Amino acid sequence: MRNRLYRVCLVLVAVFLAVSCGKKVVIESYALIPEPVEMTMEKGCFSLSSSTKCYAGSMGQNDPVMKYISSRLRQWHFNPVLAGKPEANCLQFLINEAYDQELGEEGYTIDVDKDGVVVSANSEKGLFYGFQTLVQMLPEDVSEVRYSKIDLPYCHIKDYPRFDWRGCHLDVSRHFFGVSQVKKLLDLMSLYKMNKFHWHLTDDHGWRIEIAKYPLLNDIGSWRVDRDNQPWGEADPAGEDEQRTNGGYYTKEQIAEIVEYAAERFIDVIPEIEIPGHCCAVLEAYPSFACAGDDTTYTVQFGPYWPPRAILCGGNDSVMTFLKDVMDEIVPLFPYKYIHIGGDEAEKDNWTRCPRCKKRMKELKLKDYEQLQSWMIVEMEDYLRGQGRSIIGWDEILDGGVSPDATVMSWRGEKGGIAAARRGNDVIMTPIDYCYFNFYQADAEFQPPAMPNSLITLRKVYDYNPMPNGLTTSQRKHILGAQANLWTEYINTPEMTEYMLLPRLCAMSENLWSPLNVKNWQRFRSNVARHTVRLEANDYTVGTGSFKPMITVEKTADGNRMVTFDWEVEGTRLYYRVDDGKFVKYEEPFEVEKGSRVSTVSFYMGMMKEKVYEFEIKN
Ligand code: ACM
Ligand code: ZN
Repeated sequence: MRNRLYRVCLVLVAVFLAVSCGKKVVIESYALIPEPVEMTMEKGCFSLSSSTKCYAGSMGQNDPVMKYISSRLRQWHFNPVLAGKPEANCLQFLINEAYDQELGEEGYTIDVDKDGVVVSANSEKGLFYGFQTLVQMLPEDVSEVRYSKIDLPYCHIKDYPRFDWRGCHLDVSRHFFGVSQVKKLLDLMSLYKMNKFHWHLTDDHGWRIEIAKYPLLNDIGSWRVDRDNQPWGEADPAGEDEQRTNGGYYTKEQIAEIVEYAAERFIDVIPEIEIPGHCCAVLEAYPSFACAGDDTTYTVQFGPYWPPRAILCGGNDSVMTFLKDVMDEIVPLFPYKYIHIGGDEAEKDNWTRCPRCKKRMKELKLKDYEQLQSWMIVEMEDYLRGQGRSIIGWDEILDGGVSPDATVMSWRGEKGGIAAARRGNDVIMTPIDYCYFNFYQADAEFQPPAMPNSLITLRKVYDYNPMPNGLTTSQRKHILGAQANLWTEYINTPEMTEYMLLPRLCAMSENLWSPLNVKNWQRFRSNVARHTVRLEANDYTVGTGSFKPMITVEKTADGNRMVTFDWEVEGTRLYYRVDDGKFVKYEEPFEVEKGSRVSTVSFYMGMMKEKVYEFEIKN
């Protein structure tokens, strides 16, 4: 009996110690991404502890945003006991009584002073973004370490976004990613105040959404033989009768679950259904939707289809019925303004040989095949307009003429976006040279395989300004914002989606939220260093490309070579050796003879970031 009592006491002491003896920390400075519009620091600190309460003002504790905030606070062992009135030692989340024009719908203010933290905004959305900033004010490892006291320096923040459209795209056709990974991406987006999730649900390599009326889209179009252990573009063809084990699709319940999860994070979900090209998955399931005379056998397969000749017949009424039927099932699942109808890279070869397409063109007096595509798109636009929706299309939709209501996603550079804004169409900028995060982020030799011959470094993303030059004030209003695109030909694991997005998504978020006058590469790269710790503590995989040395070799007057290293993430430590010498820490540019072999290795937070990189000084 005594023994049992003793054991119970020991357990109680252990529980008491676990609860009360968390770490204490004093935050020295805040590393916020995106950088707020205004932030002023003051002397003194407020101590956030388990006795700090929460006050939800007029919203009350059952407001969805307060529920989200409380559950996050609880994860970090802060007890969000709700106060009935504002009091000292309190986190207050308040909706402004009078609308603050400067903050708008998404802005917020944060005040940290001796009484606690006050986050205020005109809307729940603004409070949500204020809370994301507060999250970033906590220690980087708050999700892993139990803190009993966090000293937050006094500050005043005023913040609101530069652009309305702060997007991230995910291609789930080339590789399929499950519900939990999509949710993890939505969490990541919300940390960086991004608000549009563009979900690329259909393409040649798989149809990814349940459509009840056309079950073969899923039974056939969502599956292919597994070649994930072979390089994209060099995979063995499918064997006869080989099982199709790679793929999948989202059921309607799963779509609803994700849309709801996104809504809790103030993220709109924009589904993309590709019309009229990128449709091998449709054509394998329903070959009659191909052009007359097209005797290609389309299959859902691994590896590129190039040139992309698969195209839905523009002259077949049953194709238009099919597309409208699909939209009838899509629209109720996505309660937002936009449906993306694709429109990119549709080779029209099959149309040129198809009697049905020719007949349609003659009847409608269409001059060329671009106009036939345009007719299909406008038909779909009208149909969707009837259901209260607007379309977005890739910039090819401009080629055959476009309605003034369509929003253009400019990917083949900025040209399409500029032309569209001049015509009065809304535009989302996503030029391939800056916004394609499937491109390498550093020297290909040291990176996992990505799109060949491509390079978009963190710095390049950071230097991108989504507002193109040469537009008038009224044309500029049509640039809604920009987004990062993640095409997944070369990305076949959840970790790789994160590896390619991070840290470049941090740069895109700042491009889209922060005003130009607060952007600063030196500050940003040091913030990225701290965010890398935060992201890894939250189980995200951060790409190593930005830790790679950037190497410059210049001739010296005496015929030797001067080698200079630079790096993107502040805090990276580089070591190098010449020929078979010892590794030494890089402090400043150094001179070597032509023909020398130089090896480098980079460390970050005590961890080696990649294997040793050796190169020869040739020229
Ligand atoms: C695209 O990259 N084909 C939009
Ligand atoms: Zn046709």
